[in-house]
Amino acid sequence: MEDKLESLISEIKKAANILKLYEGKIRVVSHYDADGICSASIILKMLMREDKPFHLSIINQLTEEYIRKLGEEGNQFIIFTDLGSGHVEDIQKYLLDEKSIVVICDHHEIQGDIRPENKERFFLINPIKLGIDGNISGSGVTYLFARAVSSENVDLSELAVIGAVGDAQTGSIEENWGLSGLNREILKDAQISGKIKVETGLRLWGRYTRPIHKALEYSVDPYIPGISGSESASVHLLQEIGIELKKGDEWRTLSDLTNEEQRKLATAIIKERIRNNEENPEWIFGDIYELVDRTQEFRDASEFATMLNSCGKMDKGYLGVMLCLNISEVFDEVREVLLNYRREIGRILSWIENNKDIIKETDHAVYILGRENIPEHLISNVASILYKSGMFSEKKPMFALSYTEDGRIKVSARASDFLINNGLSLQEIITKIINEMGGEGGGHKGAAGAFISRENESRFIEMVERILKRERYINTDNQEELISSGDDKDGPAKGEGYSSGSGREEGGETGNKENSIQKMEGQGLVRYFSS
Ligand code: C5P
Ligand code: ZN
Repeated sequence: MEDKLESLISEIKKAANILKLYEGKIRVVSHYDADGICSASIILKMLMREDKPFHLSIINQLTEEYIRKLGEEGNQFIIFTDLGSGHVEDIQKYLLDEKSIVVICDHHEIQGDIRPENKERFFLINPIKLGIDGNISGSGVTYLFARAVSSENVDLSELAVIGAVGDAQTGSIEENWGLSGLNREILKDAQISGKIKVETGLRLWGRYTRPIHKALEYSVDPYIPGISGSESASVHLLQEIGIELKKGDEWRTLSDLTNEEQRKLATAIIKERIRNNEENPEWIFGDIYELVDRTQEFRDASEFATMLNSCGKMDKGYLGVMLCLNISEVFDEVREVLLNYRREIGRILSWIENNKDIIKETDHAVYILGRENIPEHLISNVASILYKSGMFSEKKPMFALSYTEDGRIKVSARASDFLINNGLSLQEIITKIINEMGGEGGGHKGAAGAFISRENESRFIEMVERILKRERYINTDNQEELISSGDDKDGPAKGEGYSSGSGREEGGETGNKENSIQKMEGQGLVRYFSS
């Protein structure tokens, strides 16, 4: 493992040195989710410190067409973050010539090979290339790159932690429901640079932004029997143990509770869980990442990640970047965007509640046929939330489909740890399908996406069914009967929307784990940058 990391860092250093010598404008393209926004912000801050001009685009999807147009801009130095790995061929076709440099900082599955003549000008910085699969986000990889450019950038580790939390890479009880592996090393850097404080607290989402009774009502993990899902029961529980819901006219949040009140609440939750024979009733505490330099409602990494995600999804990725850069002028607008985003998601979820016939469940998978009823920019969040809701079996993947404005279908697929551990890779399934029927797609084992043409909806489902049946990820209640396809298995992995940890509002991309990295001693990454 250490060797692999050495070779990753040595490639990163090479790219960093070339960047430092380059004097023109740097073109930056990043993904529009929380991880992508954090990645973009890391690059921007790094470039500002290097006094280099830049031009940033935050996009929802990299396509051949986009790359072709980018080629027409005549850029000589392009950095892709949190995307790009799925387009190695197109990038070489449209963007690389003997004068240009391309750097990709990414963690998505790689498609295509770098041609020998491009080896010195095309830097695909992606741990997967070296067999390091999981436990690092796009922003984590980007951070390593920025860190190699200058040691001053150690403080940008904060953003890499937020990106990883946004991608639902937080783990299980063994990691105190926090980050592990390379992510944990990056977290160490953030602690060393005084940007993040790790505390143990109640794993309820919305520490700073949600009224306590709402945090209880919406808590799926940890699940509180009789309380989760019920506003009145949540209010009742708080009243019973003497916790005031309001301070003046304002709802109190978890962060407003005194230590004594937090203890009382924790005891009450554990009691409820014991009373209902929940397994491990005391597993309600976990790591909480406090963003030390930020003000109140922007202090919790998990809530911060959701804000970034809402900015991206509401087509305001630039706002997320400004938030990352801590520009206070945008705070109010971010609050508004978050509110609208929540409203939209809430509206869609209740619409689905009343229109359950759009959910099709077969022996092999669950399909959400959103068609024109679920906006394309929210289908992935809806898929994550539904998949995590406990409504469906972890033995079936989910494929959520919605119509796009340009006349196609957006697919968002999610799979559980259980399925990934049995060899399922959504990225492979999606790739197989689009190779046959056309379209664009990619992603990870546990979370992948695609765009396909409108007339292919039923064909897509047929193909998924056929693949799942053939590969024998048969839905059965008997785990033993599940036969793996013999695909690579890198140890336990966690798919999006199957987050068992952070209590986040929604899943991010994926949280695959790599056993050996997981066990690495937590000393921070500083030692790799001693030169
Ligand atoms: O959009 P969604 O969240 O469902 O995507 C899941 C994962 O698949 C993300 O990591 C995303 O970057 C990736 N994806 C992709 N190509 C697409 C759509 C999604 O690589 N066309
Ligand atoms: Zn990502």
